Amino acid sequence: MTLEELNQSLRDCQACRLASGRTQVVFGTGNPHASIMFVGEAPGLNEDKQGVPFVGAAGKVLSKLLESVGLSRDEIYIANVVKCRPPDNRNPQTDEIETCKPFLLQQIQIIKPKLVCSLGNFAMQTLLGKKIGITKVRGQVFQLPEFILFPLLHPAAALHQGNLMAPLREDFQKLKKILDEMTNEPEHSSPVQDKPVQMDLF
Ligand code: URA
Repeated sequence: MTLEELNQSLRDCQACRLASGRTQVVFGTGNPHASIMFVGEAPGLNEDKQGVPFVGAAGKVLSKLLESVGLSRDEIYIANVVKCRPPDNRNPQTDEIETCKPFLLQQIQIIKPKLVCSLGNFAMQTLLGKKIGITKVRGQVFQLPEFILFPLLHPAAALHQGNLMAPLREDFQKLKKILDEMTNEPEHSSPVQDKPVQMDLF
């Protein structure tokens, strides 16, 4: 299946209760052949209206951070764990995440990014399969069977809690180093610096 076929198959998704409150499914955006993918939590008001992830205030922060490490939105792929806006921007519920997770994993399987940067608790916990706090694992590198996971703080959290902006910026500088190593590395060697963690994802 291609990314576009998966997108089309989800346009009228009724798999969970979020279908009733959404304007549209926010599937994802960017380069379908990206080697770097960013995964957020769920669409907010602006994303629901425009059908594109990270176009609101948190998206502006993300764009600036991407720019700071020389990445443009066109070269990466951006998606969310949950593809429909939760009412009043509440947290996605466990069953909603479980229902939507296979679609995220399918996106990852099709795009085949080398590196996935999760943004915030929900994306990290979904991809790592562990109920761990983001502040414990942010900025660490996890080797999963199919890709490297690099958990980052959520830009919206840094917007609301100013003290999180510095660590988020710091982790983006670390991301730049990882990207530089990925670009310079010979095929098959790994840029993982921290102890690799083996998880069964698929
Ligand atoms: N926050 C997210 O996690 N995703 C979006 O698309 C927008 C804000």
